[in-house]
Amino acid sequence: MQTGVPTGTTSGTTPAAVAPETSKAGQRIGVPREIFPGEKRVATVPEVVEKLIKLGFAVSVETGAGDAANCSDDAYRAAGAQIVDTAAALWATSDIVFKVCVPTPAEVDMMREGGILIGFIWPAQNPELMQQLTAKKATVLAIDSLPRMLSRAQKMDALTSQAGVAGYRAVVEAANAFGRFFAGQITAAGKVQPAKVFIAGAGVAGLAAIGTAVGLGAIVRANDTRAEVADQVISMGGEFVAVDYEEEGSGGGGYAKVMSEGFQQAQRDMYAKQAREVDIIITTALIPGKPAPKLITAEMVKSMKPGSVIVDMAAERGGNCELTVPGEAVVRHDVTIVGYTDLASRLAKQSSTLYGTNLWRLAEELCKAKDGIANINMEDEAIRGLTVTKEGNITWPPPPPKQVAAPAAAKPAAAPQAKKGHGHGGGGGEPMAGSKLAIVFAVAAVLFWFVGANAPGAFLAHFTVFVLACFVGYMVVWNVTPALHTPLMSVTNAISSIIAIGALVQIAPPAGTTDWIRWLAVAGIVLTTINMFGGFAVTQRMLAMFRK
Ligand code: NAI
Repeated sequence: MQTGVPTGTTSGTTPAAVAPETSKAGQRIGVPREIFPGEKRVATVPEVVEKLIKLGFAVSVETGAGDAANCSDDAYRAAGAQIVDTAAALWATSDIVFKVCVPTPAEVDMMREGGILIGFIWPAQNPELMQQLTAKKATVLAIDSLPRMLSRAQKMDALTSQAGVAGYRAVVEAANAFGRFFAGQITAAGKVQPAKVFIAGAGVAGLAAIGTAVGLGAIVRANDTRAEVADQVISMGGEFVAVDYEEEGSGGGGYAKVMSEGFQQAQRDMYAKQAREVDIIITTALIPGKPAPKLITAEMVKSMKPGSVIVDMAAERGGNCELTVPGEAVVRHDVTIVGYTDLASRLAKQSSTLYGTNLWRLAEELCKAKDGIANINMEDEAIRGLTVTKEGNITWPPPPPKQVAAPAAAKPAAAPQAKKGHGHGGGGGEPMAGSKLAIVFAVAAVLFWFVGANAPGAFLAHFTVFVLACFVGYMVVWNVTPALHTPLMSVTNAISSIIAIGALVQIAPPAGTTDWIRWLAVAGIVLTTINMFGGFAVTQRMLAMFRK
């Protein structure tokens, strides 16, 4: 059933607040300035405004709403949005409001009756807000209630996009507090060991953190109670460290369950060992609806090396570390413990762009006719899941979802760089489609036939060797992780010293030839020996850096 939502369009717009010339037949989307203390994100960005306008909507933005995310009023104006001077005018003139943070009671008071609100709501935690919204006869789409298991819904999955940004930022915060490089290096002054990073919980944020830390050159290990994420950890360039205890950790739907006491003890032993070994711990462990499990004890913090860093992403839910202070970075036992709860907001431009794109994708689903009118289709499983109140009636919780896709955690936002690390094709691009590959092979076959039919025999022998060498070289290089390309080059350099054979042949020149050939051969042998032994020695040293 497609239900048209009352429009009201721009009729309530006061001339002072909204310039009349861009009024359209479609509904007006309003984007207020976020008022939660310290929040820097904004629910849409200028690039997305253009796309919303193409869907037929008109867009208003409260003045200064994007300042903290590097989106100026002028940029919004240039994209076609109207800038509104006050929050009251914005809420009163918008048919649909896009927000990031849960609205305050004062904000809901400003909302027009029967309007649509889209943003984070957390209906289970905010029953009073839900009552206030129903009193306004509001239709509310809680982006946190999106059925994440639907593959079609993944483009709208703001929890995933924001957790991905937060996972990236957690590594950046760790790097900021850590006094050393992440990547190992051999410098003229000596060898620098790579940093060792341990990630507890490999969900969306954890996988993004793994990708980022691997990208910076660290040795990354990770653990999760769900054994199925081991492959994802490895595909991001990390090492999965399992707990030495047999127990299934998946609670269904891509989420974890509370583990038995026996498992928890074995996990504590393993974490204690990791705490002694690693330099940085990033904790992201979470079971929905439960307080964060305490994984890092005060004793473990004490056992870490001086200058180590813990970033506790679960700080808001009580923290995975016993010594975390939510919202603050503190130093305990010479270990910096970062408990920031606003990691996504600390990368405001990026998180706002991704969030705005999620909401635009949702707007696309709501407005398939591109006429600027949002249809809340309760037959659509994704929209049904999101809709927590409909025209003043509470519709949350939704019935359980039917279609199930792969867990959303498989696709973290910050993945591309780490995926590149596996070097299957330049720049981590998509593998070539079967038909394209067939065309390339056909063209190559015709070329080879042409060369074979026309070229002299001697050339053909060299050409065959050349082509085979190119093929073998390609296969070798592209199957080696980019991080190992430098040792690969040095070992290739060493092997190329095979040219020493030429010098060896010439060291005893035939009688009657001049003596300088012999001396040239001696010099050649000396130089290639340096190249050969030096190449192998450098390779050895570089590879040693990757050994744990
Ligand atoms: P997620 O649900 O995708 O991942 C959590 C992972 O923890 C799951 O893979 C789960 O299997 C694992 N886990 C649960 N219990 C465990 C245990 N005892 N030991 C090991 N692993 C365990 O959640 P997501 O989206 O990755 O978020 C992770 C955390 O980051 C959450 O606590 C979330 O609230 C927080 N977060 C914090 C932000 C901040 O600014 N500080 C921003 C975004 C997310």
